[in-house]
Amino acid sequence: MTDLLSITDLERGDIERLLDLTDRFAEISTRQIPKVPALRGKTVVSLFYEDSTRTRLSFETAAKRLSADTMNFSVSTSSVKKGESLRDTAQTIEAMGIDCVIVRHKSSGVPWQLTRWVDASVVNAGDGWHEHPTQALLDCYTIRQQRGSLDGMHIAIVGDVKHSRVARSDIWAFTKLGATVTVVAPPTLLPPAVGAYPVQVSHDIESVLPTVDAVYLLRMQRERMTEALLPSLREYTATYGLTRRRAELLRDDALVMHPGPINRGVEIDPDIADEQRSVIVDQVRNGVSVRMAVLFLLLGSGTELHTPTDALQEASA
Ligand code: NCD
Repeated sequence: MTDLLSITDLERGDIERLLDLTDRFAEISTRQIPKVPALRGKTVVSLFYEDSTRTRLSFETAAKRLSADTMNFSVSTSSVKKGESLRDTAQTIEAMGIDCVIVRHKSSGVPWQLTRWVDASVVNAGDGWHEHPTQALLDCYTIRQQRGSLDGMHIAIVGDVKHSRVARSDIWAFTKLGATVTVVAPPTLLPPAVGAYPVQVSHDIESVLPTVDAVYLLRMQRERMTEALLPSLREYTATYGLTRRRAELLRDDALVMHPGPINRGVEIDPDIADEQRSVIVDQVRNGVSVRMAVLFLLLGSGTELHTPTDALQEASA
């Protein structure tokens, strides 16, 4: 495999090896000069057709810490504004000589399409409502860092599951690593085919919170809603928000997670997002190390993502 498109392409062992490798890159990030020459001479381009703060900067930082050259493509200042197609844009960029495309697009399936048009490795940084595999990997890494393992954990994913690529990737990743997942949402914010996912479904957050090892809040993705799926945000917060009162139902050692960006006061109480149990900032920090591991496996080792590698020894020296 030369691309990272979906968590469903990875076996449990692949994910575990990638998380093990992430430990090594996390160590590099703590060095006084957090940079290794592993990807010197490689060029990584970010092709983001949707807004992003964390994911784009995180991939860019990861590539730079590995000494790759980076190119940033911004739709608003490019020839996409003049009507250039995705295919022509991708082939134009590839003609300049690149090794990896990190792509985010509002349409599901675009990363797969790109693999047919370019020879470079393609990494899915979010395709529509479909998948966001590196987010799931950094979430698994964060949980593992806190708890050692996901085996036997119960994780609640709460909120706008219907529009969430994060939820779809997390459900596969968490369950592959041995956790059970309950999605908690109003019926209008669940995917119509929720039965096809390995999850339990609940509409009662207060009965679920005392039973979980981690609660994962999702943002209300209003930019993806084409109809009124909720009476109001205030109503949502009243019924499903992680309010201060509801947070008291959580065990003291339960983790509070969120992919960002947070709508403080909607899906989560502003103070709960910053309290001791919250690992939201760790998720962002770990995102860089996880993405270093992904880029290294795809570009640096000359081996496949499925294959463990010794090349890191040399790379991290
Ligand atoms: C998410 C995304 O864009 O899918 N954010 C992220 O990548 N950390 C989630 C969201 O936008 O709510």
